[in-house]
Amino acid sequence: MNFSKYRKDFPVLDKVVYLDNAATSLKPRQVIEAMDYYYKECPVNIHRGVYRLSQEASAVYEECHERLARFFNCSPREVILTGNSTDALNMLMYMLYNSNYFKKGDEILTTVYEHHSNLVPWQFLCQKLGLKLKFVEITRDYNFDLDDFKKKVTPRTKLVTFAHISNTIATIAPVKEIVDFLKGRGILVCVDGSQSAPHKKIDFKKLRVDFFVCTAHKMLGPTGVGVLVARGKLLENLSPVRFGGDMIAHVSLEKATWNDLPSKFEAGTPNISGAFGTIAAIDYLERLGMDSIAYNDKKLLEYALDKLNLEGVTIYNPKNPKMQGSIVLFDMEGINSRELSTLLGDYSNIATRAGMHCAEPIISRFNKEGLVRASFYFYNTKHDIDLLAKALKEIHKKF
Ligand SMILES: Cc1ncc(COP(=O)(O)O)c(C=O)c1O
Repeated sequence: MNFSKYRKDFPVLDKVVYLDNAATSLKPRQVIEAMDYYYKECPVNIHRGVYRLSQEASAVYEECHERLARFFNCSPREVILTGNSTDALNMLMYMLYNSNYFKKGDEILTTVYEHHSNLVPWQFLCQKLGLKLKFVEITRDYNFDLDDFKKKVTPRTKLVTFAHISNTIATIAPVKEIVDFLKGRGILVCVDGSQSAPHKKIDFKKLRVDFFVCTAHKMLGPTGVGVLVARGKLLENLSPVRFGGDMIAHVSLEKATWNDLPSKFEAGTPNISGAFGTIAAIDYLERLGMDSIAYNDKKLLEYALDKLNLEGVTIYNPKNPKMQGSIVLFDMEGINSRELSTLLGDYSNIATRAGMHCAEPIISRFNKEGLVRASFYFYNTKHDIDLLAKALKEIHKKF
């Protein structure tokens, strides 16, 4: 499929070579128009009014759950709308905390390369409850170390939580092998799909995990919308974490009962315009087809890994397009990553990201001053990568 014809839907591409897609994707015109429609045509609250406009907005908000459920192959009751991935992971942490799931001495297993949002909430919980936080290592070629993982699972392990695709080294976690190994041990599994959901088909049932988290703004959608997909049976028994309007069934002065799923976990006025935008984003992704996006990503990445294999540039990824997400993480000898990223922006109008990428433990292993990340999406072209390679060669000559 020729994806370059879709570039016209992202007018900002005329102004910049955008290679910061792992931070956030661009938003197509259709998403902006859908949100505009909400604010212009039915800017009212949901679930509270019996008048037509409120019913229209409420129906769209419900449709957002249904569309996400179809997109991820789960039930709409299993889709909780949150503020972003960070919010979803924090909510999950508090859901487990409020439900007394952990006991002192229990263990949580994650990896050494998590985004801070899948690390810091668990650090907090471990300190609060006296739990042990353990970390799966990477292999020498930046892959998930399955042997190390197997060694670190013990009878005290109660939760395994890891990025589907790392936002830095781009490692793809072997979810099938992980879930097969954990089968029958009664351990909860959470997958942070912030970097996978934009790039590949996610089938929640096939993944066979308990929780899946992602964030709409990385998948063409608006900021302020995240998703926590969770097995319905678990959600029925887990405690809510936010209390107030919409999440209740009945309230007396002394106590309250909870609403049905997923409202039990969605207190207060939600991001209604975000729901309009998210539906438009899902429409767009479905029109392109997630398998076509994944195929195109691999081709672009293959090209990038070849073109960016340059003198003076070190790449910190598996370097096998089949084993990694659409990210190239690198530095250049003799120049600090922030300066390098600034030069790419100032002289070649190329947007990359520099620094710790919200994953300081893994980045600081490789370079205490941070690394540069170029990340791709379907609207990028080989020409974008050629421009990056050319700019890097010129900068290397100068430094
Ligand atoms: C792997 C991963 N997890 C979580 C997040 C957090 O996403 P958000 O900032 O939308 O909460 C990111 C964002 O970069 C990410 O890449």
